[in-house]
Amino acid sequence: MTDFDQDLLRKIDRIHPYPAKFPLDTAMAYIEKYTRENDLVFDPFLGSGTTLLAASILHRRGFGTDVNPIAILISEFKLLALDEGELCALNDFISDFAENYRNYLSDTNLYSYASIGHWFCNDSILVLSCIKERIALLPDGKQRTFCNLVLSSVINIVSNQESDTRYAAIEKKELSIRYVAETFIKKFRHILSVFIQFNRLDRCTGKNKPLLCDAKECVKISAPKSIDFILTSPPYPNSYDYYLYHKHRMLWLGYDVNSVMAAEIGSRREFSSLRLPKEKFNSDLLQVFEACNTLLKEHGKIAIIMGDGKIRGEKYDAKENLEKTLEPLHWRPIEYSYTNLDDTSRSFQQSYRTKEKREHVLVFEKESDDEAI
Ligand SMILES: C[S@@+](CC[C@H](N)C(=O)[O-])C[C@H]1O[C@@H](n2cnc3c(N)ncnc32)[C@H](O)[C@@H]1O
Repeated sequence: MTDFDQDLLRKIDRIHPYPAKFPLDTAMAYIEKYTRENDLVFDPFLGSGTTLLAASILHRRGFGTDVNPIAILISEFKLLALDEGELCALNDFISDFAENYRNYLSDTNLYSYASIGHWFCNDSILVLSCIKERIALLPDGKQRTFCNLVLSSVINIVSNQESDTRYAAIEKKELSIRYVAETFIKKFRHILSVFIQFNRLDRCTGKNKPLLCDAKECVKISAPKSIDFILTSPPYPNSYDYYLYHKHRMLWLGYDVNSVMAAEIGSRREFSSLRLPKEKFNSDLLQVFEACNTLLKEHGKIAIIMGDGKIRGEKYDAKENLEKTLEPLHWRPIEYSYTNLDDTSRSFQQSYRTKEKREHVLVFEKESDDEAI
């Protein structure tokens, strides 16, 4: 990231919480190494859109899929390009809200879903409902994406949820109408000021697309043999429940959490609660990478970043399992490195450091159809 304003890019990259992101400079390094300007880059497990952000800064075209709508919202935000009129409209939106929210509250209809009262106090429900109604008055499209991103980023802060990673309800004394409204206003102004600088950056935006789609079905969204490079990090097996991490954000924004939960692969729900065997995860990965293989050009490259896990009490070695699972695709290994997750050296996931676990980067090349037979 030497030629770029690293501080600004880091702020954009971390604009909204997301677990198990890979670092932007790593994504940029792999994209620079394996592609040229205007090449097409794809990430089937897009998460917070790091691959697409890196691709757009480096003037590569790119698209990505994720089953989690919050992943898509964050990725859309990172690809936004707003004109002066749209920036002014956002500034007017927040000034108006700051000045008038107390008047708006008296006409607000309370938003509701099952168990909302357990996770949010009445003041939070009232103010968040009011924000939601004000956003719905904006024109559909970019301005709403911006505002929904800010709303999503404050949901857990003003909920009773202990923290992003602790799914337990506790009493938070600071929550009041004023606190919730000011939290939103402050966050909005901060994100807008960072975004205004980012918006000036010359990057590829219009052509880059995040899509809400199961990665197993990605063949539908691009032509066969159209992709030059795949850069991705699948869920680390049995380590997270992304649907749970973003559950209240999804509910407030009107998404169906159950369908996200059902489509998510590698989750703790599958391997800790349902105690499924590791073969389930390997078969999911094969389905995704078979679809990727159809999209990839001959001699296209694939970089996969994945950490070890534990399934049914046994270590899941990500390198060993990936190599074996992907054998039917005849991809040629061309690069390999790893990081010890208990090292003091930099790791992709600070919270995931444990003895004996590694985070692997495996790079493959797709052979030509003749060679693969
Ligand atoms: C390790 S995270 C990716 C993080 C990403 N590299 C970043 O920097 O933010 C894995 C992602 O896979 C997504 N995922 C899980 N199952 C999926 C599926 N069947 N199709 C598409 N995405 C899926 C999860 O929602 C999660 O966002």
